[in-house]
Amino acid sequence: MKRPYVVVTRRIPQVGLDMLNEEALVRVWPEETPIPRKVMLSWAQGADGLLTLLTEPVDEALLEAIGPQLRVISNFAVGYDNVDVAACTRRGIPVGNTPGVLTETTADLAFALLMAAARRLLEADRFVRAGKWRTWMPLGFLGVDIHGSSVGIIGMGRIGYALARRCAGFDCRILYYNHHTHPQAEAIGAQYVDLDTLLTESDFVSIHAPLTLETERLIDEKALRKMKRTAVLINTARGKIVDSEALYRALRDGVIAYAALDVTDPEPLPVDHPLLMLDNIIVAPHIGSASVATRDRMALMAVRNLLAGLRGERLPACVNPEVYG
Ligand code: DGY
Repeated sequence: MKRPYVVVTRRIPQVGLDMLNEEALVRVWPEETPIPRKVMLSWAQGADGLLTLLTEPVDEALLEAIGPQLRVISNFAVGYDNVDVAACTRRGIPVGNTPGVLTETTADLAFALLMAAARRLLEADRFVRAGKWRTWMPLGFLGVDIHGSSVGIIGMGRIGYALARRCAGFDCRILYYNHHTHPQAEAIGAQYVDLDTLLTESDFVSIHAPLTLETERLIDEKALRKMKRTAVLINTARGKIVDSEALYRALRDGVIAYAALDVTDPEPLPVDHPLLMLDNIIVAPHIGSASVATRDRMALMAVRNLLAGLRGERLPACVNPEVYG
């Protein structure tokens, strides 16, 4: 029987590729940078399935170029804002993602960023490496306490809740803003509030919402001005939820104290971007889910979604189940 042809737009953990190679004819983009659009349009022609990363727009033009034989799109991420899901649904193509398996790892990173910003860890490290450490300093690198602070969580989904659990262990007061209340979060003491209350009362504001029309630039100049002057903003969700120019001005002018970002707009952030000229910011290159075990689990989940789609079975994790009628 003819093997289905699939395109994988970057090298993913081998455990996933091995599983895929057993059933499909696989073409993997071998470079470390995203597959150029032109190459993608040409490689994907005639594909039965596509395994994409969050760096690849999956839109009408691409779907059109691939052709009507396409059976499945599997995104190697929990977020799928790079995929025009409505266009896939119109064509009856299921779209898979990787929820659950990266929850704890991403919450670990959000909490690590929160701690590193609170205690100015990266500034302190740069100071030592620059040979500036002369003595113990009663007034050096004073940060803010995490224990007993108020943490505002925007988006109480899986990752937001996993962060809330970590904060509860540090005796924090937890506020959250979400579409609906979250009984498990309430059970550990989290309090449902409106966005204004969250912004005004939190010492740390951490974003865990998907990027949608509603959340794009949710944290703009107005929102930043509502935050405490001592507040820290943490973003491990999507860069476009924060207005980067407004954030730059807020950090420069002391409107808020600190930011710790794992995601940026633009992404990647150019090395000469104004944000990187500031000391009161930490920027990581979108590594929220980057642990060996979690990336293996994501690869297996993405491949299981892809194989299910190729076999005409229901995807284990499908973002548009309406395609099944
Ligand atoms: C996702 O899964 O959406 C992350 O941003 C990458 O792991």
